[in-house]
Amino acid sequence: MIVISNRNEIRNKVNMLIAKSKSIGFVPTMGALHQGHLTLVEQAKHENDYVVVSIFVNPTQFNNKEDLNKYPRDTDADLEKLDSVGCDFVFLPAVDEMYPRDETLRKYDFGSLTHVMEGKNRPGHFDGVATIVHKLFEAIPATRAYFGKKDYQQLLVIKSLVKQLRLNIEIRPCNIVREADGLAMSSRNQRLTKEQRKVAPVIYQTLQKAVKMASNTSPDEIKAFVMSEINKVTEMKLEYFEMANADSFQPIIHFEKNKNIMGFIVVNLGAIRLIDNIQFF
Ligand code: PAJ
Repeated sequence: MIVISNRNEIRNKVNMLIAKSKSIGFVPTMGALHQGHLTLVEQAKHENDYVVVSIFVNPTQFNNKEDLNKYPRDTDADLEKLDSVGCDFVFLPAVDEMYPRDETLRKYDFGSLTHVMEGKNRPGHFDGVATIVHKLFEAIPATRAYFGKKDYQQLLVIKSLVKQLRLNIEIRPCNIVREADGLAMSSRNQRLTKEQRKVAPVIYQTLQKAVKMASNTSPDEIKAFVMSEINKVTEMKLEYFEMANADSFQPIIHFEKNKNIMGFIVVNLGAIRLIDNIQFF
């Protein structure tokens, strides 16, 4: 496994392999890797000749300074994990490498997709994500890039970015990887106290109950149910729960079956922000 921190160097390596008709799978991450990330790497490995993983805690996508400062970082453990699943190249740039002083933050227009949920509640977040992913795609002109459905809105933003800019890269969505008790794996889970970790599975349990109710309950009643279940738990506060069409991302008022409807949730457990989603119809 080769570790590279320079943008030109990784681009030259990838271009050299592409010129030899090799396919490249790329997995962008912010490190503190868990089995969710490693599953993306394994899928990329399965579908391509070579795999590149980037580790970069991107400051421009954090609208909360404390979240950025406390974001877990453990590069040595990350490199060991990546080596164990057969990753070929790790791109590990410093902040100056991705954001030199002469490069300004890019602005994008994703229309109504970014006016709701994460876009509405985290101002500037998706401009930060799109900026870094665009820069990473320039540095790593891969064949395919892998994104988790856990950050479903992010996945749609990236698909839209690729379409708008006509980038020659295939976006591959990957299923959510969960702990045995249903909690969606996340780097932020490390920051939960023992007590918080014990109650965290309530989030997914509530989503599953909501899906069961959906055949004979209105969206409004389901929303009220989710809010009461979450807010019942000490330290848990529902930030939002929305049901929306999984393509347009527009929140729905009535259920129309077979319309690809998903439920999206964010819960603050103490100071930790946890995100999850589930398919309804
Ligand atoms: P990060 O949170 O490190 O996640 C990297 C990728 O792993 C994302 O595509 C995310 O959706 C996926 N992922 C995380 N947990 C997962 C889980 N439990 N199951 C399946 N996939 C999971 O998302 C980011 O980093 C950043 O925004 C990034 C795209 C790297 C841009 O900075």
